[in-house]
Amino acid sequence: MDKKASQPDVMADGVKCVDCHATLYGGHSPAKVKRTCVECHDASYEKMAEEWQMEISDRMKRLKLSVGRLVAQKRGPSEAEKKKSDGLKEIEEIIKTLERDRSKGVHNFLFARELLLRAEEQVLSAERSFSKRWD
Ligand code: HEC
Ligand code: HEC
Repeated sequence: MDKKASQPDVMADGVKCVDCHATLYGGHSPAKVKRTCVECHDASYEKMAEEWQMEISDRMKRLKLSVGRLVAQKRGPSEAEKKKSDGLKEIEEIIKTLERDRSKGVHNFLFARELLLRAEEQVLSAERSFSKRWD
């Protein structure tokens, strides 16, 4: 994966962890954390965080279903198998990266989207290589 493609979030410079996580490990509820957006932005930003999380969670869920489908697939020609296992490796990396972050996309929405897009492309390309005739 091209790690250089990742850009720090626009807020990474000026906004500190504690600006959103008032006391980071003091156990703030997710709802409270999201409400902090409005301290610096207008009211529409509270919904924005929710919408980001819904999109990222939804695409993660579908991605995992696709992984399950690919894994369960009948063995194909070795070229297709190779393409699939390379693709799956990258997809698993992406899933791990996003789960490790734990903000469901809020910490860096654009990067999370970029990673998901890359993983979704890998799914399509693995599926295509199975429907292709290798002769
Ligand atoms: C722009 C606001 C914002 C900033 C800045 C921010 N976070 Fe978050 N963070 C969130 C939101 C929103 C969530 C998702 C909360 C949820 O829905 O559970 C989250 C989730 C998390 C979580 C997982 C949930 C939890 O509370 O255990 C961790 C850990 C975390 N952030 C750490 C950090 C660290 C470390 C930094 C600084 C490097 C940081 N955050 C900066 C908004 C922010
Ligand atoms: C402590 C203040 C602060 C908090 C809290 C904060 N932001 Fe920001 N945000 C900023 C700053 C500063 C910028 C950079 C503004 C710029 O460069 O124009 C920014 C930029 C952004 C941008 C990109 C430019 C724009 O204005 O639309 C988005 C989107 C954004 N924040 C969303 C959020 C969300 C969602 C949350 C809550 C999870 C949040 N912010 C919490 C200060 C904050």
